[in-house]
Amino acid sequence: MEKIAYFVDLQPELEDFLSAVVKGFSSSRKSLPPKFFYDAYGSQVFDRICATPEYYVTRTEIGLMKDIGAEIRALAGPQNVVVEYGCGSSLKIHALLEALIDPAEYLAIDISKQHLINTVEEIVADYPDLRVGAICADFSASFDWPPEADQSGSRRLAYFPGSTIGNQMPAEAAQFLISVRRLIGEGGSLLIGVDLKKDIGVLNRAYNDAAGHTADFNLNLLRRINNELGASIDLSSFEHRAYFNAEKSRIEMHLESNIDQTVDIDGRTFSFKSGETIHTENSYKYSLAEFSELAEKCGFKPRKAWTDADDFFSIHYLDAR
Ligand code: TRP
Repeated sequence: MEKIAYFVDLQPELEDFLSAVVKGFSSSRKSLPPKFFYDAYGSQVFDRICATPEYYVTRTEIGLMKDIGAEIRALAGPQNVVVEYGCGSSLKIHALLEALIDPAEYLAIDISKQHLINTVEEIVADYPDLRVGAICADFSASFDWPPEADQSGSRRLAYFPGSTIGNQMPAEAAQFLISVRRLIGEGGSLLIGVDLKKDIGVLNRAYNDAAGHTADFNLNLLRRINNELGASIDLSSFEHRAYFNAEKSRIEMHLESNIDQTVDIDGRTFSFKSGETIHTENSYKYSLAEFSELAEKCGFKPRKAWTDADDFFSIHYLDAR
């Protein structure tokens, strides 16, 4: 039985859900941070979203990864230490590990502990000769290269698929890219999936799947407030709303109260007007040029960018400058 080489738990879940909810609900425009979507149930529902016919992102990115494997192999060269941010389930990493020549190590980072354990155990089983480690962390906070991880000075290749970069505000995305640049160091590279601007109908359908998994995922935030903070919000009094905001070039997700109501959480009362929303997530859509420009500002040199045949999705290979 092969084993995980190291598991570093930076205990992101200890970051206070209650104080984040109180802060978000106290604002004049209510909001909740999207990282709280990913408890065990939310991570499962997210996998269901990825398999819906409307959500083109996952299958398009996986298809593209398979198509460009040989080019990635040529750009990356041998013996990379692969660092995956927000590994979720392991669908895409297989395509990358298979493309690379003799990878030196795989290091997975995710906020959801159980999901992370499952994923790295799968990778260990599938690649018995690969050194595999994990860090359970909130990657929106920057952290240092762990002492348990590769110290041989091998090239570091960061991998950030899924257009998760689009879930950050542009200024946060820049901060994140700068912290990745710092973690990979001189000679490192970043392979990143970025969703593109496209037909508004395609975008709106992707975040409003007919089976209702995206709604279930969004409403899971309220389920968590009930289960973990002792509230008793009626989930049917809130509705999933997701739409493209063209001016800001982003999908916005909200939970909209369909009645006037008050919600009690830990001795505090928050009131909602009918039609008032909790803003739960953004998913920014970039053009190829916009994203390259952002990466350049953050210390990267764009090497190559690929898109699928429909120009729905892009993958960028960037070198540390
Ligand atoms: N980063 C992806 C996106 O923005 C995945 C994602 C995050 C997502 N939250 C979501 C997808 C909510 C659907 C619904 O598309």
